[in-house]
Amino acid sequence: MERKYQYKEMLESMRGTYGEFSKNYGFNWKEFVMGIPTPLFLVTTYKSNGQPNATMQSWACFTSANHGGGYYAILSSVNKQGHLCQSLHEKKAAVLNFMSPDLYEACMQTIRNNQFEADEITASGLTAEKASWVEAPMVAECFMNLECRYMWEKEIVPGDDHVMVCMEVIGGHIERDYLENRFGGKGVLYNIHYPMNPENVKEKGCDYTARLTEANQSYEY
Ligand SMILES: Cc1cc2nc3c(=O)[nH]c(=O)nc-3n(C[C@H](O)[C@H](O)[C@H](O)COP(=O)(O)O)c2cc1C
Repeated sequence: MERKYQYKEMLESMRGTYGEFSKNYGFNWKEFVMGIPTPLFLVTTYKSNGQPNATMQSWACFTSANHGGGYYAILSSVNKQGHLCQSLHEKKAAVLNFMSPDLYEACMQTIRNNQFEADEITASGLTAEKASWVEAPMVAECFMNLECRYMWEKEIVPGDDHVMVCMEVIGGHIERDYLENRFGGKGVLYNIHYPMNPENVKEKGCDYTARLTEANQSYEY
């Protein structure tokens, strides 16, 4: 038997499944087959009417740049039609709130409480606090809140309906539990978006959140 399967085009086995029709929602089947986890957080901003907005976000990565002069969040794909994109353009600021697993459901509620008039944080049973350094709300219950300044955006492919957004992390509020133990306890949650095995396609799947376990240690190199 081959040690590795090869996937370049979507297999027939995925036809008619979520792996195919979720293209209508902007998802590509390779995301489900390749299953690369991405960090999950709730982005909070103020809407133009002053109400707090909250957006679940997991297409993202983080990096140092500017010769070590700054730390940056790249939100890799933000819906241009959503409140987040709109409020980022207006306020140039957001907070990235990292949730422990027990807060996942409340954070998901913000999607159901997505009305423009709503305070999406309070309506979802969470507590909105003012950020310290930027004009944005943050979620008190989340174990880490990163205050960010909007820098730039770019379409991955010209004409796309989502944009990649770069934000500078200005500063953070971090609970002691996270500082002392990043594995197993209060750690960053990862989103695994609808994993699929094309060799054994199930009728129904689901999304997962997962956390880190330690695998290796290394020292400065
Ligand atoms: C786990 C999860 C991850 C998500 N990640 C993203 C994302 O990376 N980009 C995006 O545009 N929408 C993402 N969404 C969808 C938005 O959270 C959702 O459409 C939200 O209602 C938009 O809110 P807004 O209009 O207040 O910005 C995600 C949803 C879930 C449940």
